Amino acid sequence: PRTVAIVVAAGKGERIGSALPKQFASLGGRPMLAHSVAALRAHPGIDDVLVVIGEGQQDLLADAVGEIPSTIGGATRRESVIAGLRAVEADRVLIHDAARPFVPAAVIDRLLDALSTAPAAVPVLPVADTLARGDAVLGETVDRTALHRVQTPQAFHHAAILAAHEAWPDDAEATDDAQVARAAGHDVTLVAGNAMLDKVTYPADLAAAEARLAARLV
Ligand code: C5P
Repeated sequence: PRTVAIVVAAGKGERIGSALPKQFASLGGRPMLAHSVAALRAHPGIDDVLVVIGEGQQDLLADAVGEIPSTIGGATRRESVIAGLRAVEADRVLIHDAARPFVPAAVIDRLLDALSTAPAAVPVLPVADTLARGDAVLGETVDRTALHRVQTPQAFHHAAILAAHEAWPDDAEATDDAQVARAAGHDVTLVAGNAMLDKVTYPADLAAAEARLAARLV
């Protein structure tokens, strides 16, 4: 089967507080986007990588990763994903956030294995902190044993996830693609994620990612 990775990088990334959108901000001397693209390109199970960028970001993309298939995204992450899905020809896709720079090959292995028997698979990690409801005072504590932190890349049969996105109501929010697949009736297999896949959102996350690189943890 032909497997294509779609990296969504069309967000504004404003919470990071840098001049450039965070996916192009420097991380270990390279644009953040370059790290995930390199890992995905290097994996033997992935045939091609396409990047979804914002209007006018072609030069930033070329500086970051050189020649690469790309398309223009939309105002929401979901619109950017749909643009990517429509721009690729593939049997299977991995949909990945550019804001998660480090992609361990072992996680890709687990996702692709899972896709041989399931229409969708996502990497997850356990929740470490206590979770509770409440406003000013503590409400009910939530049982975390049944909860997961859901990461990307998320893996799908291409036709299934494209149809699922086309069926999802335009005015409804979706924080990831697994949620959209599940709403369309597809079972989503859980595989073990990795802390390296944590998303870079705030300035402190960028510092943590720099530290991981410096410590050669990736
Ligand atoms: O903002 P957040 O970190 O949740 O975005 C997750 C990923 O989705 C980022 O890599 C971002 O560039 C991408 N995105 C996008 N198009 C948007 C919004 C976000 O490609 N309109």
